[in-house]
Amino acid sequence: MVSNDGKLYLKKVKGKVRDLERAIDFGEIKGAGIGHTRWATHGKPTVTNAHPHTDCTESIVLVHNGIIENYEELREELASKGHVFKSDTDTEVIVHLIEDFLKEGLEKFEAVVAAMRKVDGAYAVGVIFKDEPNAIYAARRGSPLIIGVGEAENFIASDIPAVLNYTRRVVVLNDFEIAKITPDEVVVKSIFGDFVNYKVLEIQWSAQMAEKGGYPHYMLKEIHEQPSAIMDTMRGRIKDGEVFLPELDELLGEELPSRIYIVACGTSYHAGLVGKYAIEKLAKIPVEVDIASEFRYRDVVWDDRGMALLISQSGETADTLAAMHMIQRAGLKTVAVVNVLGSTMSRDADVALYTRAGPEISVASTKAFTSQLTVLYLFALWLAAKSDPRGTEVLKNILSGLAFVPQLVDTVLTAEEKIAFMAEKFASFSHFMYLGRGINWPVAMEGALKLKEISYIHAEAYPAGEMKHGPIALVDDKMPVFAIATKSRVYEKMINNIEEVLSREGRLIALISQDDRRLMNKVQDVIVMPEVAEIFSPVVNVVALQLFAYYCAIERGLDPDRPRNLAKSVTVE
Ligand code: M6R
Repeated sequence: MVSNDGKLYLKKVKGKVRDLERAIDFGEIKGAGIGHTRWATHGKPTVTNAHPHTDCTESIVLVHNGIIENYEELREELASKGHVFKSDTDTEVIVHLIEDFLKEGLEKFEAVVAAMRKVDGAYAVGVIFKDEPNAIYAARRGSPLIIGVGEAENFIASDIPAVLNYTRRVVVLNDFEIAKITPDEVVVKSIFGDFVNYKVLEIQWSAQMAEKGGYPHYMLKEIHEQPSAIMDTMRGRIKDGEVFLPELDELLGEELPSRIYIVACGTSYHAGLVGKYAIEKLAKIPVEVDIASEFRYRDVVWDDRGMALLISQSGETADTLAAMHMIQRAGLKTVAVVNVLGSTMSRDADVALYTRAGPEISVASTKAFTSQLTVLYLFALWLAAKSDPRGTEVLKNILSGLAFVPQLVDTVLTAEEKIAFMAEKFASFSHFMYLGRGINWPVAMEGALKLKEISYIHAEAYPAGEMKHGPIALVDDKMPVFAIATKSRVYEKMINNIEEVLSREGRLIALISQDDRRLMNKVQDVIVMPEVAEIFSPVVNVVALQLFAYYCAIERGLDPDRPRNLAKSVTVE
């Protein structure tokens, strides 16, 4: 929607942003404009329910990301005052509320502030008034919203990469803040109406960093960025064979936690599972790992001396944020392992341990995952050194192995062609089973998730020892099994599981270690991984699984950067 010559030009489309682009012809844009890709929560994905929404007089337009929880009562109240609703969305109540406050005689800024005071739930909102064509009002609570500060032009967006082509100066709006943005000015008020002093951040990412850098898809670019993302994540945190995490020194002092709660969603949850293996092995501290949407609704038995790690690429995932706030209410310290600078999680946690993966644009998370693993290894080694200073020499050795991981990831990337060939061979199957054990079981889960989300092939992941307890019944020549069988303490056990599959005429692909003649002789389709310490093998192995999923999607003619039904940041429950 744009505001031109005192008129509002509005266009809505169901489907892809590309379809909207084709449908738009606003001519020369002279005033402000707003747009939003809706991810349906209340009301079907239809043109009527698409944003922007308008008030009764069609002179206020509004876009909203989030969920308004008290929309039913507000809708009833507004309808009883004569407001007519056009959509089934929760969003529409906000625009009618603003209209109502204007009718009561409030100024526009005050009307927006007053409306935001009445709504419960999560929102990032953009509003334009027909008779003020050069201004956008923006409000935030619980959903991400940033303001890009340009030269005689300003922007609002959900995240920083969206504005990097225009400016690197960014204001991150806080929860319960409302801004008025004109081409030359940004004014911020709190929800109580007071003026707020804000900081303008200088973003170091270049615009090019946020583009595809010559790759056909962001996902492939981001897979290839992993060696440097891992390196950046380690940078400055390892000195003289020791891990330096001063943020944690300050937060935890000398007292180590007696239990660690790790909470996350999706890929970040898989990173948490790997983290559990690493922390328990190195620091001998018990770790519980939970999916955030489950954690927040279970009766957690709190360990008062415990602490929590929240893992999130975006730092905006609604369930993980809610879990974090619940943990804080229970009085435990929280550390966010997060990628996005200035995200809600990074600001609300007691400490943010940043992964330094740079902007991850592709919906499928890749470099964020391996950077999360890197932070988790550093954290485990930091804890281990604190809990047993006598083990320093051993830890030094382990740490030197971590420093070598980026090079090993590079080696896996050189196998891209072979993996693409494997994908060509297997992409037509409709089902897959991923098997792993120990620290590579979460990697099997991550491999299956990647395949499902971008190639739409049904994939299940199992700890290989569970096969006999049910899933082996599925194995036949129509359901290939992807076994992660690199050298580890459970290597012999994996071989047994591979034998079980082969004896049932199952099709197998195996990730194996360099020079593993035994498996090379048994399994026809193998991908050879470089030699790596078992504890770090997830970082190396997952790269092959990411490439496999990517090329399966390509084989099937799909766009891996835009998987159906998925959003990059899941900012609603
Ligand atoms: O931003 P977050 O790490 O909190 O996101 C959590 C999940 O939505 C995310 O990891 C998702 O599973 C990935 N996009 C899958 O590739």
